[in-house]
Amino acid sequence: MTVANTWLICLVSVFSFILRVEASTFCNATQACPEDKPCCSQYGQCGTGQYCLNNCDVRYSFSHDSCMPIPVCKSSSTKFKDYSSKLGNADIFLGNVSEADWLYTGAVLDYDDEESLILAMPKNSGGTVLSSTRAVWYGKVSAKIKTSHLGGVVTGFILYSGAGDEIDYEFVGADLETAQTNFYWESVLNYTNSVNISTTDTFENYHTYELDWHEDYVTWSIDGVVGRTLYKNQTYNATTKSYQYPQTPSKVDISIWPGGNSTNAPGTIAWSGGEIDWNAADINDPGYYYAIINEINITCYDPPSTAKKNGTSAYVYTSSNEFLAKDIAITDDEVMMDTDEGSGLDPHKGATTSSTQKTSSSTSTSSSKTSSDHSTSTKKNSKSSSTASSSSSSSSSSGTTKNGDKAVSTTSTSATSHIKTASSESGSVSSSASASSSSSSMSGNNMGANAIANWRLTALCFILGYIL
Ligand SMILES: *[C@@H]1O[C@H](CO)[C@@H](O)[C@H](O)[C@H]1NC(C)=O
Ligand SMILES: *[C@@H]1O[C@H](CO)[C@@H](O)[C@H](O)[C@H]1NC(C)=O
Ligand SMILES: *[C@@H]1O[C@H](CO)[C@@H](O)[C@H](O)[C@H]1NC(C)=O
Ligand SMILES: *[C@@H]1O[C@H](CO)[C@@H](O)[C@H](O)[C@H]1NC(C)=O
Ligand SMILES: *[C@@H]1O[C@H](CO)[C@@H](O)[C@H](O)[C@H]1NC(C)=O
Ligand SMILES: *[C@@H]1O[C@H](CO)[C@@H](O)[C@H](O)[C@H]1NC(C)=O
Ligand SMILES: *[C@@H]1O[C@H](CO)[C@@H](O)[C@H](O)[C@H]1NC(C)=O
Ligand SMILES: *[C@@H]1O[C@H](CO)[C@@H](O)[C@H](O)[C@H]1NC(C)=O
Ligand SMILES: *[C@@H]1O[C@H](CO)[C@@H](O)[C@H](O)[C@H]1NC(C)=O
Repeated sequence: MTVANTWLICLVSVFSFILRVEASTFCNATQACPEDKPCCSQYGQCGTGQYCLNNCDVRYSFSHDSCMPIPVCKSSSTKFKDYSSKLGNADIFLGNVSEADWLYTGAVLDYDDEESLILAMPKNSGGTVLSSTRAVWYGKVSAKIKTSHLGGVVTGFILYSGAGDEIDYEFVGADLETAQTNFYWESVLNYTNSVNISTTDTFENYHTYELDWHEDYVTWSIDGVVGRTLYKNQTYNATTKSYQYPQTPSKVDISIWPGGNSTNAPGTIAWSGGEIDWNAADINDPGYYYAIINEINITCYDPPSTAKKNGTSAYVYTSSNEFLAKDIAITDDEVMMDTDEGSGLDPHKGATTSSTQKTSSSTSTSSSKTSSDHSTSTKKNSKSSSTASSSSSSSSSSGTTKNGDKAVSTTSTSATSHIKTASSESGSVSSSASASSSSSSMSGNNMGANAIANWRLTALCFILGYIL
């Protein structure tokens, strides 16, 4: 390898990064992604790499096989004690499920006192999402959590699929005695789908919230008591002659997000309990709004007996027509990409153009994943003590918010895993229109990750160039 060649690779990688920053391509029901950026992210933007994972929207992607195949369900029980260092960073994860069961975007901290994980939302941030690297099709998921509190602060625990199917718990901080349950089929909004379950203070108490999702029905339970049952046969739509029932492989998302941020649509702000107070006591001490996760169990059920199977490791969509359960097969297709240029169309893209580039980019990726790019290791010793000492070893993608002696790593991602966006005229709430408010921050975030990967590559190029 000559110095000139090395420099060429450096230039090409820097140039391709600049191109990626400049061209933002959006995707929605009327416009699918182009072939060179085939994946439509959950936030309605086209790209490769991370755009093709984690709720990549199969409906608006270039083709049904553009998103990466989805790792199959694996039963698990996770105690979130000292767990922040085990989390993968969703902004750089490339699909190796041996590396992480759970990913985060935003800010996470260990909470030693309760052997739990804190999802933090510092002032003016978009919040934090914890998401599973594998999907459930079908299964039972239970989470022992404490929600956030106060108006405008929303905590969510949902199953979410790349076809827009959802089964939700949502908690608005202004009403701590209600768990709102909801479901969506392919993002179709129906106000009558929401049902409330009463419970006791969700901020002060750990409750175990369960979603028991079968082919024919789903139940929502709190502390072992069923609060709602939905049968598939209740969702039959006589016009379309189909069941509008959540039926595609879904990942688990737990999030805290600012529904009441002033830049959100009026209907969203109203639903979330009014405008968020970014000067509330929590913002001063401990330095952020927060939700707390103690434990999550996942029990996998068998996939539908009619599912096409020629393997055991991945769920894939087999057609672009309807995105229903019948359009899913179980295969051994690759679930991992080599670089962030990859996609379901070519998971190895970016790895084979030259041996040096392959080495460089895989080195940069794995070092980001295994080193300090993980979550913060801040210890939250006491929520009420303003002098609790804490430290942060974070060097995460973009920004650090400091509050006294506390430092919380934070990326710019919006945690609106399920944003409610409303049109101001009707005050109506729609999940599919959500992308607008979060897409820019999502892109900023991915660019942050790309920037880091490219910086490392460039630094490596420099070192290589020097040595050679
Ligand atoms: C889809 O995106 C295109 C291009 O960004 C835009 O012109 C169009 O209005 C969008 N359609 C919908 C239904 O949002
Ligand atoms: C996936 O991650 C595991 C654990 O870090 C590692 O041993 C394995 O080599 C990785 N697989 C690939 C294909 O990189
Ligand atoms: C929240 O609103 C502030 C303005 O009050 C804005 O600067 C910030 O970007 C918004 N954050 C999100 C995540 O929407
Ligand atoms: C998870 O499973 C274990 C073992 O069955 C049980 O003790 C625990 O209560 C469960 N936790 C949740 C959150 O469901
Ligand atoms: C659920 O409770 C919230 C208040 O927390 C209320 O605004 C909403 O209308 C209730 N929804 C239903 C379907 O009763
Ligand atoms: C739906 O299915 C359940 C369970 O199989 C049954 O009890 C119920 O009567 C059915 N409801 C309708 C509307 O068919
Ligand atoms: C919403 O769902 C209910 C029950 O499934 C149904 O009766 C109603 O017609 C639906 N409304 C719309 C607008 O789809
Ligand atoms: C049936 O589905 C269509 C298309 O999604 C929708 O417009 C209509 O409101 C649905 N009707 C009912 C009764 O749910
Ligand atoms: C299994 O099926 C998938 C999807 O239909 C296809 O892409 C793949 O090539 C098949 N693999 C084998 C080994 O037949």
